[in-house]
Amino acid sequence: MTPNLIQQSAQIIHQANTLTILTGAGVSKESGVPTFRDALEGLWAQYDPQELATPQAFTSNPKLVWDWYEWRRKLASEVAPNAGHIALAELESIKDDVHIITQNVDDLHEQAGSQNVIHLHGNIATHKCFDNCRGIPTLIDITTLTYNKDATPPKCPYCGSNIRPNVVWFGENLPQYELNTAIEYSQNCDVMLVVGTSGMVSPASELPRIAKQHGAKIIEVNPDISTITHYADIKLEGASGEILPKVIEALHEN
Ligand code: OAD
Ligand code: ZN
Repeated sequence: MTPNLIQQSAQIIHQANTLTILTGAGVSKESGVPTFRDALEGLWAQYDPQELATPQAFTSNPKLVWDWYEWRRKLASEVAPNAGHIALAELESIKDDVHIITQNVDDLHEQAGSQNVIHLHGNIATHKCFDNCRGIPTLIDITTLTYNKDATPPKCPYCGSNIRPNVVWFGENLPQYELNTAIEYSQNCDVMLVVGTSGMVSPASELPRIAKQHGAKIIEVNPDISTITHYADIKLEGASGEILPKVIEALHEN
């Protein structure tokens, strides 16, 4: 990838008044969190999303789904942010109006120091009552519960229903506040940096298109082609952990 494209990207970001960043699983890959659709090693290459990431799957086999998310939660809790997350957090300190929207359910952006990250698909470190018996969402801190780890999932202390991970499953609506805020940030930015997403899952995949329709420049960071690539103004082809620090370096030279 030509240094020139890095320079151009830094120039565009430098001149931006409002910068919105949309990230996907690719930004956490170099931290050791598998993506979903990367051939072979992606999670969906090994597991059937219909069997593990839908309310129906949880209803028909709560233990299988719970234990799978516990495996993913443990993995996410054992890894650290990579240079890509850290570069994006630094971008927030270099520029005033920066917003991060992520599809990821890990908290690596926050661990890297990012503030006010919008999680469109929830947060794997938190849990809620399957029936949201006390309002949407009825969050439950499972660390305060005593339950038999073999007889999972644990039960809601209020209504006795199963407790589930506080993530968005296929066929479910995104959390309203987060979605509205993400659309607003997409409509009101003059540059959108799209990092590590295949753009296969809507409505998140619509956000770069909304930004483009509202006049924003789109800069994409991805080693592969995504559904955003064909309308991106600049495509930085490669791993975000390698490319984003170079963009920050070029920004400091601006
Ligand atoms: P995907 O697995 O669909 O796409 C990951 C993207 O990251 C691909 O385009 C890769 O080419 C790219 N990639 C891989 N390594 C990278 C690296 N080192 N640096 C930058 N990019 C890299 O993941 P998402 O687009 O995030 O939804 O998937 C969207 C949603 O689908 C997820 O949030 C999840 C999933 O089903 C729900 O669970 C609701
Ligand atoms: Zn309940």
